[in-house]
Amino acid sequence: MTQTMIGVIGGSGIYDIDGLEDASWVDVASPWGVPSDQILTGSLHGVKMAFLPRHGRGHVHSPTTVPYRANIDALKRLGVTDVISVSACGSFREEFAPGHFVVVDQFIDRTFAREKSFFGAGCVAHVSVAHPTCPRLSDACYDAAVEAGVTIHKGGTYLAMEGPQFSTLAESRLYREQWGADVIGMTNMPEAKLAREAELCYASIAMVTDYDSWHPDHGEVDVSDIIKTLMGNSEKGRGMVRGLPARLGVTRASCPHGCDRALEYAVMTAPEK
Ligand code: ADE
Repeated sequence: MTQTMIGVIGGSGIYDIDGLEDASWVDVASPWGVPSDQILTGSLHGVKMAFLPRHGRGHVHSPTTVPYRANIDALKRLGVTDVISVSACGSFREEFAPGHFVVVDQFIDRTFAREKSFFGAGCVAHVSVAHPTCPRLSDACYDAAVEAGVTIHKGGTYLAMEGPQFSTLAESRLYREQWGADVIGMTNMPEAKLAREAELCYASIAMVTDYDSWHPDHGEVDVSDIIKTLMGNSEKGRGMVRGLPARLGVTRASCPHGCDRALEYAVMTAPEK
């Protein structure tokens, strides 16, 4: 058994964890760069917690400049076992309405200006991301959200775009009608891939803020509308996080889906003699 440590990466709208005991903001050094911010550590109902604001306090990192590798590495170094990503997204489905949450289980990665791997020259590894999220952790988030009174949908494909501009109408239609994406956002990639390389369980909760630009009855996406919806969502997101310790427990067994053993057959480079 390992000690559980829940790491929450909060997007726009979630900037801390309420009720955290022994709370303190700590610096975590990483050879992969400086993380987005200090990390808020503490415990909730006896379970160790860590919270990292993805864009930094004051929202200083754009989706492209978020130091994804440093963030995942810093959480790993702190002892985090389970990463919950909370982020805003646009919706490609009528029934995924603004204010609803989606438990993402697949991604289409259209980002192109970010460092995407811990591996490269010197040590080559290819992990599987066929199933990029952890079903055990995703189910815990779903149950905690339902208990917190959130309207939440189980399963959805998240198209990760580079940004920072929103999509054109043609792109929005392409992703929705031809590619079958359910939601769109700018931050879950390469975060999910890096979490897998770091052998961390990862779940993504996307909070719907808008219908992107495809919907004939809704205007184009606009940051002020996104912020309004996020403010309404933030209490729901915090409610979900409050319910996680009871579901995940103080200690945990190895992941039934193998997230914590992802590198077992992935490394190609021969060990040094
Ligand atoms: N984040 C929130 N809404 C979004 C949208 N429509 N496209 C990309 N990222 C988003």
